[in-house]
Amino acid sequence: MGRAKITVVGAGNVGGTVAQRLVEKNCYDVVLVDILEGIPQGKALDLTQAGPICGYDSRVVGAHGYEESGGSSLVVITSGVPRKPGMSRDELLATNARIVQGVVREVAARSPEAILLVVTNPLDAMAHVAHRVSGFPKARVLGMAGVLDSARLRTFIATELGVSVENVQAMVLGGHGDTMVPLLRYTTVAGRPIEEWLPKERLAALIQRTRDGGAEVVNLLKAGSAYYAPTAAVVEMVEAILKDQKKVLPCAARCDGEYGIRGLFVGVPVKLGRGGAEAIIEYALTPAERAALTASAAAVKELCDVVDRIL
Ligand SMILES: NC(=O)c1ccc[n+]([C@@H]2O[C@H](COP(=O)([O-])OP(=O)(O)OC[C@H]3O[C@@H](n4cnc5c(N)ncnc54)[C@H](O)[C@@H]3O)[C@@H](O)[C@H]2O)c1
Repeated sequence: MGRAKITVVGAGNVGGTVAQRLVEKNCYDVVLVDILEGIPQGKALDLTQAGPICGYDSRVVGAHGYEESGGSSLVVITSGVPRKPGMSRDELLATNARIVQGVVREVAARSPEAILLVVTNPLDAMAHVAHRVSGFPKARVLGMAGVLDSARLRTFIATELGVSVENVQAMVLGGHGDTMVPLLRYTTVAGRPIEEWLPKERLAALIQRTRDGGAEVVNLLKAGSAYYAPTAAVVEMVEAILKDQKKVLPCAARCDGEYGIRGLFVGVPVKLGRGGAEAIIEYALTPAERAALTASAAAVKELCDVVDRIL
């Protein structure tokens, strides 16, 4: 059996770096697609030439079209316009919905058994577009946000306490953006609840910094948005799926009754394996957590309603 083929659509900061992280695993062949002629081909050639130094034989092909993408096991969708300073994720809605619609039509026709992993923002609404346009079963459409949001919170907590990031576990649910829902009762440092480590006000400040995590990077970079941590999150999800790890990670998955949410992609704990989103795990929530998740889902629904009118 050869390596699994992964198509990455969008060869910008996120797509190019996802491709790099994937080929360095030496387990996957990658097809990098972008509308910009030359960029995917150039990045693919550059990555291929790193193989002898980094010790990988993975094939990387850059393309302007989709012929090479046929038969992919998984497609990572990063094509879109990134946020500019001061721009909200939601302002990206109409432009990126049309881009994702066009991309999903192409990849779904050529890789009908693929799992779609959406990264383009606004994330939860773009996962909705991918599901609607592909007609794929809901288990084969996922969005990446919760792993990133949780990693940001874990980083800030570890730095504040001066402990290893490996000691910090966190689970951030809800939509990607201002309405994310960090579950503090499930946030632990070396197994001890976070509320026993930090006073409420400090914790609130770290949560706010997590909420603004994307914007903080955008404001520093001035041009473009974060991509090192987001691509690390994408690759953790890809490996959980293609290596059939059954890892439980917070992902945007379509809820049909779970957490009282119906017909919407929202960040929830998902068991990832070769079947994609194999199960949504329902945590017991306090009334306040449930209310926050419901509010988050309502914000996602507003975007999806707009998308449904546009497409
Ligand atoms: N979910 C998350 O947590 C998360 C994190 C980081 C970035 N993002 C999002 O990921 C997306 C990509 O970010 P980036 O920093 O790589 O942006 P970027 O501008 O560097 O790259 C986007 C690429 O998409 C390409 N593209 C546009 N339309 C296309 C089409 N129809 N077909 C193929 N390619 C097309 C562009 O040419 C460009 O190369 C943005 O929407 C960004 O907001 C999401």
